[in-house]
Amino acid sequence: MNPGAFAQPDFSAEIEAIESRLLDLPEGLQDHVQRSRDVGADLCEVHRVDPERVDLAIAAHDLYRAVDPEELLAEATRRGWEPDVVERADPMLLHGPVAGLWLMQEGGVDDPSIVEAVTWHTTYAPSVGPVATLTFLADKIDPRKVEKRPWLEDVRDLAYRGRAEIAVERYLENLLLHLISDDAIAHPRALDALNYLRLGRRGLL
Ligand SMILES: [Fe+2]
Repeated sequence: MNPGAFAQPDFSAEIEAIESRLLDLPEGLQDHVQRSRDVGADLCEVHRVDPERVDLAIAAHDLYRAVDPEELLAEATRRGWEPDVVERADPMLLHGPVAGLWLMQEGGVDDPSIVEAVTWHTTYAPSVGPVATLTFLADKIDPRKVEKRPWLEDVRDLAYRGRAEIAVERYLENLLLHLISDDAIAHPRALDALNYLRLGRRGLL
């Protein structure tokens, strides 16, 4: 990869702040984040996306994943997020938005491509950029998750073959099918995102 292909901001101070917070997370979660960072580095090579931004986003994406649901809801509100009805019912959906807000408010990161990647890493969202797409995929195809859910093999193979948006479509299709058939609540943003990707693929946007 041509090292001059991306403007290379220096995120070393921000990464250091995030890594010091990562040490407070449960070990299993730290391991997941590390595996996802490794996958993210691979995907950046395949897709020629800025590895610094993707690595920072993946490092930060689960900073609030181990927080108790009630506390997460309070933290989201305190930081200025207005939870919708689905987020109130399942506050774990807020761990991405809260981490995104922390990045902006305390983590010294205002790069919109990184903030959106962290914010939307659970549901995905319409019209996000490549940093968010690769962050989303790197989280979902952590090899340990693929072992547990064989349907993710297809998502992983598409992602590694350079078909990131199709891989996200495949992920969202499966996610929504599983949630709906399990009588769970699906966040409408995931369906909006799937429709957006399909409309784009058909040239209808
Ligand atoms: Fe994650």
